[in-house]
Amino acid sequence: MDSNIIDFAAFPRGTDTDRQSVAESLVNGLKNNGFVSLTNPGFPDDATSDYLKLAIDFFSLSHSAKMKAFGVPGPRPQRGFGAVGQERTAKHRKENLTGHDSWDKLKDEREYFDMGPPEDLEFPNVWPDEADIPGFRRRMESYWNMFEDVALQIISAIEMGLGLPPNALMARCRPSTGELRMNHYPSVSLETLAKGEIKRTWPHVDLGVITLLIQDTVGGLEIADIGQGSPENPSFVAVEPRGNGTKVNVVLMVGATLQRWTNGLLPGTLHQVSLPAPMRQQRNGDCPERFSGAFFLKANKSASVAPLEQFITSEQPVVWDNMSALEFTKRMVEQLY
Ligand SMILES: [Fe+2]
Repeated sequence: MDSNIIDFAAFPRGTDTDRQSVAESLVNGLKNNGFVSLTNPGFPDDATSDYLKLAIDFFSLSHSAKMKAFGVPGPRPQRGFGAVGQERTAKHRKENLTGHDSWDKLKDEREYFDMGPPEDLEFPNVWPDEADIPGFRRRMESYWNMFEDVALQIISAIEMGLGLPPNALMARCRPSTGELRMNHYPSVSLETLAKGEIKRTWPHVDLGVITLLIQDTVGGLEIADIGQGSPENPSFVAVEPRGNGTKVNVVLMVGATLQRWTNGLLPGTLHQVSLPAPMRQQRNGDCPERFSGAFFLKANKSASVAPLEQFITSEQPVVWDNMSALEFTKRMVEQLY
């Protein structure tokens, strides 16, 4: 896996040649490494660090205050607060059961909050009380629009890098059904993690089109090295936050929807959250708490998740069933609880 860092600044603002160069680098990074780290993705200064501070404020609320925004588990787009242990990423991948006797024992040591499009009436957002965390809803809605703008710029770059006509992917994304998430990984003992049944996040591929991930400086995000390891035993590589003052790189990952659209040309990014690299040799003590944020760009509800015809060949026939993006979301989310 190479260093895989791409400066995105020239895509929205550069010449046609600059834009083409960024677009090709981006697609090559996703194809060869399964992810890229982006510098200058297009967020205003301090926006991502301010977002992580807002996550700290939210998760610092009492359990009862957070439960006012409880997201009822079920086969639908995720909204609201989920307590530690509610979402089980292990169940997204049958290989995670290897060496274990029951899915019920495999848990994520993580709490989270999700919001969908601010104007979504079919799957409305749920919010904590304004008095408990003033300005939270207003700021989250503003962040949602900020993340969606950057995510759609990246879709435009991926279209160009893949040699697709303009709008080939964008038409399936708009209006998007993206979800903005904040994660809190509470401090957990190394002994608990060493038993192997509880992880911060189990290996999985996100289900949307692309994921933009921001993390604090604790570390622990790992992405499977393409071409190394096996499905039962992937070879994970740490993707540490490259902090530069308040700025951290944004990690761009491929979701299962984009993997389908490209008929596997862009592989879904298999990732997990494990111990920070400096703690791997440690046997005792506690892994410090960690905060992260993610924007899952998801397709238009009625868009197909079938491959585009440009990616179907006799050597690479279609292996996935066709359905709408909303149906795909429902099926995938149902597995998580
Ligand atoms: Fe994920």
